[in-house]
Amino acid sequence: MNQTDKPHQQASTLWSSRMAFILAAAGSAVGLGNIWKFPYITGENGGGAFVLVYLACIALIGIPVLIAETMIGRRGGRSPIGTMRHLTASEGTSRGWRAIGWNGVIASFLVLSFYSVIGGWSLVYIGKTAFGAFTGVDADAVGGQFGALLASPVQLLIWHSVFMAIVIFIVGRGIRGGLEKAVKLLMPILFVLLIVMVIYAMTTAGFSEGVNFLFSPDFSKLTTAGVLTALGHAAFTLSIGIGVLMAYGSYLPPNVNIAQTAISIAILDVAVALLAGLAIFPLVFANALEPGSGPGLIFVTLPLAFGQMPGGIFFGTLFFALLLVAAVTSAISMLEPVVEWLEEHKGANRFKSALFGGLAIWFIGIGTVLSFNIWDDVHPLSFIAAFEGQTVFDLLDFLVSNLMMPLGGLAIALFAGWAMQRARLPEDIGLQGAVYDGFMFVLRYVTPAGIAVVFLYNLI
Ligand code: TRP
Repeated sequence: MNQTDKPHQQASTLWSSRMAFILAAAGSAVGLGNIWKFPYITGENGGGAFVLVYLACIALIGIPVLIAETMIGRRGGRSPIGTMRHLTASEGTSRGWRAIGWNGVIASFLVLSFYSVIGGWSLVYIGKTAFGAFTGVDADAVGGQFGALLASPVQLLIWHSVFMAIVIFIVGRGIRGGLEKAVKLLMPILFVLLIVMVIYAMTTAGFSEGVNFLFSPDFSKLTTAGVLTALGHAAFTLSIGIGVLMAYGSYLPPNVNIAQTAISIAILDVAVALLAGLAIFPLVFANALEPGSGPGLIFVTLPLAFGQMPGGIFFGTLFFALLLVAAVTSAISMLEPVVEWLEEHKGANRFKSALFGGLAIWFIGIGTVLSFNIWDDVHPLSFIAAFEGQTVFDLLDFLVSNLMMPLGGLAIALFAGWAMQRARLPEDIGLQGAVYDGFMFVLRYVTPAGIAVVFLYNLI
């Protein structure tokens, strides 16, 4: 296929190296999911055994879709919408598969609208911790501060706006000048901060208990619900299903081996989740706090720990800086499919596309801001029993995380596994012989079955 056939596969717009792509995709994968969600769901599900199941799901569900989605993106060389339109024609498949592209761009748009609000919380917590807001205060007061933040639409709106401005600025500067520069700077910082946090955790009395909690499996603590949570999280944490990797893949140079690259990305992502667990649980145990305290684990439980420990102000501030870096490198990847599509279909330049796309997302994000306060009793779909009492934010999160992401991932696995022509796949993916056959078996049967099970479980 010649270069002009793939608008975004021109030398000047490609990632400058395989490493740049790995850092960008790992930056997308490593996010609030690793540092906020993984520790608290591990806490709620009893630790070690849950971690083992999660690792198996990464291998059988996460990596195959990661490979398929990147491969589709590189072959199409366009925004997810353009790529699917192009490939359904060139592969001679049903046009129905084009829904993958639309689903991706719309889901990226929606997910960023609320991810940015939560990203704003990390900005607030950097400031709070640095100025000693948690020093020596008790559990009620820490919980109260979190409650007060959520109750203030003005504060939430300000930090949501600052966060979106950072994201727009980076994406507006393009792949090499913006995203690539950002991840090359931020990802090493993220690793250093994380290692510093783990070393700090090693000095606390809770370290061995934390290690045991994460790594010694007790299968009696594992429930069916826990297995399904692990499965769902394995897909979520790798950012698959909503066209982000398709967009990133569209800038991937032709000679890069996708299978090897995907495995590196998954290893980095898992390493960060495990290190985050090693940084957090020792502090929880050292302060006799509750590991299964749910979503409040890092915004309520952890600040309490920082407020009581020597060096807590310094390390607490570093921790929330780490969270911010992780959130920014994920958020920029959510804006990319939208911007790539605006450039392609509206003919706008890069900066304008980022600005207008970003502003539209910012505006929709106001719905999430208000969900925690003024609109906390607005429940738009209350007439459906299952959605009773759900705020705008709850509904958006449900729509994206429980419907659009799994359906997108499922469709991508099926499209690559069943609908695309076989001849060029081994070369495109970078696998041969028995390994390729094994991979295709997993992609065609195991992965779709796994995603379908979680999808149905989350619906009922
Ligand atoms: N992987 C991200 C995290 O762990 C969350 C995420 C899910 C995501 N799907 C995505 C990020 C798509 C970017 C794009 O926090």
